[in-house]
Amino acid sequence: MSVSEPSSLIDAARRAREKAHAAFSGFKVGAALETADGVIITGSNVENASYGLTMCAERVAMFKALSEGHRGFVRIAIVANTESPTPPCGACRQILWEFGGDLEIVLANLSEPKGTYRLKDLLPLPFDARLL
Ligand code: THU
Repeated sequence: MSVSEPSSLIDAARRAREKAHAAFSGFKVGAALETADGVIITGSNVENASYGLTMCAERVAMFKALSEGHRGFVRIAIVANTESPTPPCGACRQILWEFGGDLEIVLANLSEPKGTYRLKDLLPLPFDARLL
């Protein structure tokens, strides 16, 4: 799929959310990651009986994209069915930073956009390969 409008990216994240496997928390999340050349890769959270091996929607999207050979990303939309927006967890911020850099982070729920941020503002003083 190809897009350039954030609203299409949000729609893709909403559709991805419907595929979430959130059998334990019931908290479904969808993500849609846009590459520099306009391809959208989606993800949803995947929970499991051990709980701790749960993978968030954002990391599913990024790992899918990387494993399909995509490099270079511009933004990610994240959708949950909540009034307050759902920002990426700490682990996801680290992975998004390492592979996506200063992404635009678009938060939305099922009916409206809830805010746009830069990843560098959500993850100040990041650790990454430049420090190794
Ligand atoms: N979750 C995500 O997929 N992304 C977020 O940004 C926050 C949390 C998932 C993990 C777990 O399956 C459920 O939401 C509740 O934490």
